[in-house]
Amino acid sequence: MSDSKNKRNNAQINIVISNQKRKKITKEPPMQEHLAQEIPGHHQELKQIEKELDVLIGMEEMKKIIKQIYAWIYVNKKREEQGLKAEKQALHMMFKGNPGTGKTTVARLIGKLFLKMNVLSKGHLIEAERADLVGEYIGHTAQKTRDLIKKAIGGILFIDEAYSLGRGGEKDFGKEAIDTLVKHMEDRHHEFILILAGYSAEMVEFLSLNPGLHSRFPIVVDFPDYTVDQLMDIASLLLKEKEYQFSKEAEKQFEQHLLELKNVWSPISFSNGRYVRNAIEKSIRSQAMRLLLSDMYDKKELQTIRSQDLQF
Ligand SMILES: Nc1ncnc2c1ncn2[C@@H]1O[C@H](COP(=O)(O)OP(=O)(O)OP(=O)(O)O)[C@@H](O)[C@H]1O
Ligand SMILES: [Mg+2]
Repeated sequence: MSDSKNKRNNAQINIVISNQKRKKITKEPPMQEHLAQEIPGHHQELKQIEKELDVLIGMEEMKKIIKQIYAWIYVNKKREEQGLKAEKQALHMMFKGNPGTGKTTVARLIGKLFLKMNVLSKGHLIEAERADLVGEYIGHTAQKTRDLIKKAIGGILFIDEAYSLGRGGEKDFGKEAIDTLVKHMEDRHHEFILILAGYSAEMVEFLSLNPGLHSRFPIVVDFPDYTVDQLMDIASLLLKEKEYQFSKEAEKQFEQHLLELKNVWSPISFSNGRYVRNAIEKSIRSQAMRLLLSDMYDKKELQTIRSQDLQF
């Protein structure tokens, strides 16, 4: 045990001795320990959800939030059984992060998980962007926005690059779309979940446009850029899904390439997971060409991406 922890424990003992009534409070483990603890075995549903989340590389914050929501729903059921209030909370979310950090991927998964958890009745994802919400004449925008919300009822309305609604100033119809969204996310907040996604800096600017906006998103999740190790994990995951793998040399070169890229590109122009996906898809096509020209289709070779196949 570290020195500092010893000190902390000593301090707690002092408190307990000097004030018996506080004994309980000092014994409560900190938040992190709650989350690290093993979940009781009968929560099969949660175990299954955890399994699905495990497919995602990183995303620790998101995984924690989903588990908390599961716990909150479960405990609410128990409260209801004992005649206590069990209020529904709005679960609208804001996802902030650079391109390719997994925002759309997670939104889609959340839809599925929330269906399992009975938070949503359908769990589908309606993806929209500015052009799907903003109309061309007065009244058109509100209508279009309402129609989209209607489609999303029972599921998730995911608006990508949401900050673009705020661009164009006062006269722009984007503002009307925001106002309509704000109204409906309040009135029908048990019926659908609104997720706004976009790059961090722009989303902060967007929130400042409507004073009511910030408080309506109780869940704000940051999607950090992936490290090279995480990008390599994503690469092998994508390859495995497609029944391919890198040769040792290709793996080394791919990693080296990512290391160089991360040093050169600004975070906003590097598209993280999407870059890896695109590179792998291109490399798979180039491997196919190589095999075709050699006219040899050995089973192992069919599954191997070699360094000469790598395309970025
Ligand atoms: N954590 C992850 N685990 C596995 N694959 C991932 C992960 N994050 C991203 N990917 C892969 O990267 C690709 C891009 O991810 P996604 O489309 O979710 O990013 P995004 O944040 O929505 O990007 P953008 O902001 O540009 O729309 C996906 O096709 C997915 O395969
Ligand atoms: Mg996306």
